[in-house]
Amino acid sequence: MLVIRANRLRKAYRESSRSARPSEVVAVDDVSFDVAEGEIVGLLGPNGAGKTSTMQMLTTLARPTSGRAQVAGYDVATQSRQVRRMIGYVSQRGSASSESKVGEELVDYGMLHGLSRAAARSGARELAARYRLDDLWEREAGTLSGGQRRRLDIAMSLVHAPRLVFLDEPTVGLDPASRASLWEHVRELRDASGVTVLLSTHYLDEADALCDRLLVISGGRLIADGSPARIKRRIGPDTLIVAAASEVDVSALVSTLGRSAGDAPRVSGLEVSVRFPGGAGELEGVLRDLRDASVSPASLELRPPTLDEAFLALTAEEKAA
Ligand SMILES: Nc1ncnc2c1ncn2[C@@H]1O[C@H](COP(=O)(O)OP(=O)(O)OP(=O)(O)O)[C@@H](O)[C@H]1O
Ligand SMILES: [Mg+2]
Repeated sequence: MLVIRANRLRKAYRESSRSARPSEVVAVDDVSFDVAEGEIVGLLGPNGAGKTSTMQMLTTLARPTSGRAQVAGYDVATQSRQVRRMIGYVSQRGSASSESKVGEELVDYGMLHGLSRAAARSGARELAARYRLDDLWEREAGTLSGGQRRRLDIAMSLVHAPRLVFLDEPTVGLDPASRASLWEHVRELRDASGVTVLLSTHYLDEADALCDRLLVISGGRLIADGSPARIKRRIGPDTLIVAAASEVDVSALVSTLGRSAGDAPRVSGLEVSVRFPGGAGELEGVLRDLRDASVSPASLELRPPTLDEAFLALTAEEKAA
């Protein structure tokens, strides 16, 4: 079942500057995609790409300039109340108010979304424990550290057990343990209850590790939509990295790898790397060539393109088009 259907979404902001005539900033430009129930989808793109604007339209906080979207079967423009009931949202800026206490904020948020006080309290306690907020239960939200506040935002977005969660850069400022517990929780919610997650991130390892599918946007346009593996494949071949056991082997490594891979190797210290379209299947040939040249490397690694490289290449591809 499709729980998000975005059809030619467009968001233009009117920019009024005193000197010039009002101009338009097109934040999201003709973006269409679907998300199925239970998918974990990552939204990637550089600063200003349109990630937050897209999320704001899907969460009914901004009205599409044109185009349509359905979330959980409801139209974001005409049925915003129904949409809001179905979703949880962590905004990029955070939403906890500064004066209220952590525990109250969580319980109130649950009740605001229709939970009984008892249900809100037990949900809040559970999330507070998971996100290490239980010792901070009585603390005013305004006094929390940046990461603690982010954990409160995340807990708030989940307290009413939504079926669909939008997380706008949820792990910014989180320590590694908190980041790991969010990842674990996201997977658990999906596996146990089929919760759907759309999250934006600049951490490509996060997108790679957590997401079933990635949407890459740049300049308001969707430039790639596919599994992390598929997006990586669009970018080109693996890299073979061979470390020489000692300095004297480096030049022999360079000439052997240059011949085996058919591309010019790069040298960095004792490491020689080369683009290697053949993949794992052709490693044996390389090992044989190295043996023939009497070079025994200290280590050998075949590395697929990172999402960083993927992203740069996709953006460049788009610019060239
Ligand atoms: N209210 C607004 N008025 C005018 N322009 C806006 C407004 N909100 C966003 N924009 C512009 O729209 C574009 C997209 O912004 P958006 O916040 O969606 O980007 P983003 O992908 O979330 O970036 P980041 O990674 O920095 O969070 C940017 O050029 C931004 O300056
Ligand atoms: Mg943003």
